[in-house]
Amino acid sequence: MTEPLTINDLKNRAQRRVPKMFFDYADSGSWTETTYRANEADFADIKLRQRVLVDMTNRSLKSTMLGEEVAMPVALAPTGMTGMQHANGEMLAAQAAEEFGVPFTLSTMSICSIEDVASATKKPFWFQLYVMRDRGFVESLLERAKAAKCSALVLTLDLQVLGQRHKDIRNGLSAPPKFTPKHVWQMATRPAWCMGMLGTKRRSFGNIVGHVKGVGDLSSLASWTADQFDPQLSWDDVEWIRQRWGGKLILKGIMDSKDAEIAAKTGADALIVSNHGGRQLDGAPSSISVVEEIADTVGERIEVFMDGGIRSGQDVLKALCLGAKGVFIGRPFLYGLGAGGRQGVSKALDIIAKELDTTMALCGRRDIRTADKSMLYRK
Ligand SMILES: Cc1cc2nc3c(=O)[nH]c(=O)nc-3n(C[C@H](O)[C@H](O)[C@H](O)COP(=O)(O)O)c2cc1C
Repeated sequence: MTEPLTINDLKNRAQRRVPKMFFDYADSGSWTETTYRANEADFADIKLRQRVLVDMTNRSLKSTMLGEEVAMPVALAPTGMTGMQHANGEMLAAQAAEEFGVPFTLSTMSICSIEDVASATKKPFWFQLYVMRDRGFVESLLERAKAAKCSALVLTLDLQVLGQRHKDIRNGLSAPPKFTPKHVWQMATRPAWCMGMLGTKRRSFGNIVGHVKGVGDLSSLASWTADQFDPQLSWDDVEWIRQRWGGKLILKGIMDSKDAEIAAKTGADALIVSNHGGRQLDGAPSSISVVEEIADTVGERIEVFMDGGIRSGQDVLKALCLGAKGVFIGRPFLYGLGAGGRQGVSKALDIIAKELDTTMALCGRRDIRTADKSMLYRK
C-alpha cells in the first residue's frame, strides 16, 4: 500500500477501514454542512508571502501552549466516540500525542475513560468537560480529572443543545453499535476494525456508563445529550467550574468578539475560537475567518487558540499568522486513527509538522513563534 502523504490520504484509508456509521460521524457537520465546508475552504483564500535568500537553517517548530512546551503548537481536539474509530482509540491517540510532544484532550464523551488514558500515558493530558444538569456528576468528573493529574480543563460552551447531523440519524449511530442487519453488514465489511473491537472491553462511553446511576448503555447519543446537557449553562457556571477545578482553564467555542471579551474577564487562561468543527451552528462563519478579529480584541489578555478545518501545515501557519497562539485538530487525527491506530495518528502529526516546517522556511522564517501577519498578503 502506498505511503500516505496528506491528511486526505489518511481520510481515504480510514473510510476503507472504519464502519460507515462511525466514519460518517467524524466526516459530518450539522444540517447543510455549509459551516463544515467553509472551515476548510476559507483557508484557501489566505495567501502566504514567499520570501527568498533567507538563511533557513536551524528551524524550530517548538512553542508553548498554556505555558506547556510543545513540539509544535498543535493540540489534539476533544472528540467523542474516538474509541469507535479504532479499538482503544483515545489511549492510542494520547500515546501518539505524548510521543510527538503535543497535548491530547480527552472528551467527556470518550469511549476510553479518564482512568484508561491515565494508565496508558506518562505525561498529563487535558480533559474536556461538557456540563450536565447533574452537578454532582460534573463535580465527580472534575475530581476524576484531578486524580488523573490532567493539566488543563477544556470547558466546551457551544453544545448546550445538539446541532442535528443528518447522517448520524440516518445511520442509527450508537455506542455500542446496534446489531441490525444494516449495522452488522457495515461492521462485517471492516474485518480489521472488528478484530480490534473484539479484543477490547471498551465499547461504550467510559466516563459515563457505570458512573451515573441508572445508565447502563447510551444507545442514543442524541436523546441522552438532550436529556442531560444543561441548556441553562451561563457565565456564572463558568465561575463555579473555574473555582472547583482550580487549575488551567480553556473556554472552547468562542466565535464572537463580545463573547471573547466576557471570556477574557472570567480568569480563564485561554479560549478556543471554534464552531465545533461545523457540527453545531450551521450558517456560522468559518473559524479561520473570525480568529484575527478575536485575537486582536483579546489576544493580549488571554491566550487565543483556534480549531476547525485545519488539514495541513499551511493551514496551521495561516492560523498562527492571524493571531492564534496554537491550534487544535479534530478530524486529521481521527482519520489517522481510523487508518492505522497509534501509528496513523503519529503519521497525521508528522505530515502536518513537515508541511509546517517547509512552509515556514519558504516564507523566510526559522522560528514558528515569530509567525505574524506580515507573512500574509492582505486584501
Ligand atoms: C467526531 C467528532 C466528535 C467531536 N466531539 C467533541 C466533544 O466531545 N467535545 C468537544 O468539545 N468537541 C468535540 N468535537 C469538536 C472538536 O473538538 C473540534 O472543535 C473540531 O473537530 C475541530 O474541527 P476539525 O475536525 O475540522 O479539526 C468533535 C468533533 C468531531 C469531528
